[in-house]
Amino acid sequence: MIGGRRDSGLMKRDGGCGGQSLLRSRLTAAISVGIFLGCVFAFFYPNGFFVSSPRIHYSVANSDPEVTTSSCESSERINMIKSEFIAASEKNAELKRQIRELTEKLRSAEQRKDNAQKQVLVLGEQQKAGPFGTVKGLRTNPTVVPDKSVNPSLAKILEKVAVNHELIVTLANSNVKEMLEVWFTNIKRVGIPNYLVFALDEEIANFCQSNSVPVYKRDPEEIKRESDKNFDFIARRGGNHAVSGLKFQILRQFLQLGYSVLLSDVDIVYLQNPFEHLYRDSDVESMTDGHNNMTAYGYNDVFDEPKMGWARYAHTMRIWVYNSGFFYIRPTIPSIELLDRVAGRLARENAWDQAVFNEELFFPSHPGYEGLHASRRTMDYYLFMNSKVLFKTVRKDSNLRKLKPVIIHINYHPDKLPRMKAVVDYYVNGKRDALDPFPDGSGW
Ligand SMILES: *[C@@H]1O[C@H](CO)[C@@H](O)[C@H](O)[C@H]1NC(C)=O
Repeated sequence: MIGGRRDSGLMKRDGGCGGQSLLRSRLTAAISVGIFLGCVFAFFYPNGFFVSSPRIHYSVANSDPEVTTSSCESSERINMIKSEFIAASEKNAELKRQIRELTEKLRSAEQRKDNAQKQVLVLGEQQKAGPFGTVKGLRTNPTVVPDKSVNPSLAKILEKVAVNHELIVTLANSNVKEMLEVWFTNIKRVGIPNYLVFALDEEIANFCQSNSVPVYKRDPEEIKRESDKNFDFIARRGGNHAVSGLKFQILRQFLQLGYSVLLSDVDIVYLQNPFEHLYRDSDVESMTDGHNNMTAYGYNDVFDEPKMGWARYAHTMRIWVYNSGFFYIRPTIPSIELLDRVAGRLARENAWDQAVFNEELFFPSHPGYEGLHASRRTMDYYLFMNSKVLFKTVRKDSNLRKLKPVIIHINYHPDKLPRMKAVVDYYVNGKRDALDPFPDGSGW
């Protein structure tokens, strides 16, 4: 179920894009050949095919008495041909210049091809709908044009750290130092190069540096500029939830710089490289708090109201929330709008960031409210596993026990550090009973 699903999805997308770019490059080649042939003919036949043939005829007919009498006229003709030739070569040089310009334009257009294709899909001409079963709406929005000016020093770090313009980012202050150590130790063990710790205090910045962990520490200037004074207080003193809210503010800069971010809490153990298991077709691709197909991927929950008689059953759409501690977000306008909306609400309301994140992602437009239109994808809950799935189901099922998840997020349990270590013992060190001592839930 897990491997097959992903591969077929990827192949379908690649096939579609490949077909379009093949057509495009064929068109480009045809146009270039046309222009080139045009130049060749302009050079050798400055007056065109059909005009030039009588001219050849004229020189052959030189012995004709009528023509030879007018040698003056013939030298005039030669001059005319000369000047025509000069004009033609000038024209040729001009054409060459135009070709150079066109080639340059083509090259830079080629570099933006990916975005442009998507832009055309968004803003392009109206189209007729294709035949039944062939139409497909857009879910992969175009990425924004990177803007280095929003944070040049972060831009420099990202150039070094990111791979294919994407990276894992976590926020950490000294309250979560021990978990952070488990976090980066496992990332290193798996061999993931593109990750970054956004240090919220000096101690964490030093801790990362001494462990050669890529780290970003905001410079004092930036902190001074920070309009929200509350930010620094939360950054230094805040617990898990408070710090969680900051990430929506911080993430914006990464997206503006043109990077896709896999946002990660620190209470996560990495067992495989997550970048090999992403679809990248949606604005937000997130792990779920759900624990089976229904709760993770959505279901029709029937609400029963017997006194309504014939219409006693009301159907509702349900889905367990996305986990705002582990999601992949692409640098698009809807993604940035999402971050702004969540950060804005967290600044105004005393709310839980995960609830706000989900409300903004899922509630539709309605009177007095304009919904966000971001595309979403739920990650496979066996690959991107929450700790309820692990401790309630997987560890008790002989088949599921053999599965190797990509990550495990200890989001459902307060005793995070010991459970993280047990996960490492079970999946990495092969201790088959490492998960056994823990209760399913938190025990209170
Ligand atoms: C759950 O969903 C996956 C894929 O979406 C499918 O392969 C699997 O059979 C489903 N499991 C159940 C119990 O319905």
